[in-house]
Amino acid sequence: MQALFDKWIGERTPVFLGTNHRSQDLPFSSWYRFKEAFSPEIVKHAIVDHPTKVKACIDPFSGSGTTALTAQFLGVPSTSYEVNPFLADLGRAKTEYYDIKELRSSFHSVVQSAQTHESTFDHNNEANLPETFVEPGKNGKWLFNADVAHQVFRLRDAISCLNDPTLRRLFEVILGSSLIENSNVVINGKGRRYRKSWQQRPKTKFDLLDTFQTRAERCFVDIESFNSKSAVPARIELQDVRDEDLCFPEFDVSVFSPPYPNSFDYTDVYNVELWMLGYLKNRIQNVELRRQTLTSHVQISKAFARLVDQPALLTETVEKLQIQQDRLWDKRIPRMIETYFLEMSNLLENLAKSKKPKGRVWIVVGNSQYAGVEIETGRILAEIAKGLGYNVVKNDISRKLRTSPQQGGSPRLGEAILVLA
Ligand SMILES: C[S@@+](CC[C@H](N)C(=O)[O-])C[C@H]1O[C@@H](n2cnc3c(N)ncnc32)[C@H](O)[C@@H]1O
Repeated sequence: MQALFDKWIGERTPVFLGTNHRSQDLPFSSWYRFKEAFSPEIVKHAIVDHPTKVKACIDPFSGSGTTALTAQFLGVPSTSYEVNPFLADLGRAKTEYYDIKELRSSFHSVVQSAQTHESTFDHNNEANLPETFVEPGKNGKWLFNADVAHQVFRLRDAISCLNDPTLRRLFEVILGSSLIENSNVVINGKGRRYRKSWQQRPKTKFDLLDTFQTRAERCFVDIESFNSKSAVPARIELQDVRDEDLCFPEFDVSVFSPPYPNSFDYTDVYNVELWMLGYLKNRIQNVELRRQTLTSHVQISKAFARLVDQPALLTETVEKLQIQQDRLWDKRIPRMIETYFLEMSNLLENLAKSKKPKGRVWIVVGNSQYAGVEIETGRILAEIAKGLGYNVVKNDISRKLRTSPQQGGSPRLGEAILVLA
């Protein structure tokens, strides 16, 4: 099975295991640009270097599906969890088995139908999109020109007519990954910003169709080259992993990268696909999804809580933050940090119940910084894990992250690879 993995990855040595640096052009990884992904090699290490044969692998924070995909390439059945429905579908689409002939003929029919039929979809009445999404937008700005938006809805109509749910999902994912390129914004750093001279060089429905077809072709080549991998099961559940009733399946290896406590709001940054593809139908659903994500930001009000017995390093860190209260850009930051570690502690406790005796948990997580106070996420998690009965096999600082401008720009922050047994 390792041969299939080598065929996928080719000859390369990643600079940092914890980032997807240079992974974005790999087959499947290139389907959708997800900056926060980690490298397939970290999953490979977790599986191949494991002291016993790995029969089951889990990832509670699937994101773009790197764990599910890599485990599949290595012949290991996996279960992953993801709270963002578009990302859950992305991971599923990458690991699904397809009938190639059916795939190509259905795609042809979708493109034909979108070119010949008008969409019956009225985005104002039915999609309930935020005002800023479609021309004429709000305050003279909008994400999608009306022409492009109508093409999106024509394609969605055509896709919805297909009988096969796996093809519907794949084509929606391809459409989702074609959106930002044909919008008036780019995603960078912590959010979206308008492209330079977006009004002078307007995107059209032809651009969108062109991107959709080009991206689809790239996906089809990947699928044709590696369809055999999909005999290995890779389940991706749409699920908030903080759910107390969640019972993980028994596993040898769990490898994951949770959101870092750095105020990056995934639901906000990746919500263009959610709205335009109809995963979100109103603002209440949007708020609900943001509430379901791990507490790693303060952009939404929610109840905060803390661990009863928190490690000394966490208490010290929170005290330092409180001393700097006046310099914090939001006074809720200390409570958010405490809540983050409470939720991570609960997750580690829940994972411990399903970990086989020789099982291991691999975590990639970054430090963050507020008002000059560094949150040493890896070290704090290691302390919490020890308190829960885990052995810390490894706690390596793998690279230095640049802090966001909001956090002062420099110095650079560490990222840890934590291995627990
Ligand atoms: C750092 S990303 C994971 C990246 C992944 N390792 C990859 O290679 O693509 C963290 C992911 O956790 C998801 N997430 C956040 N809160 C969650 C929750 N409560 N339950 C499940 N997934 C959650 C986010 O939507 C995001 O996709």
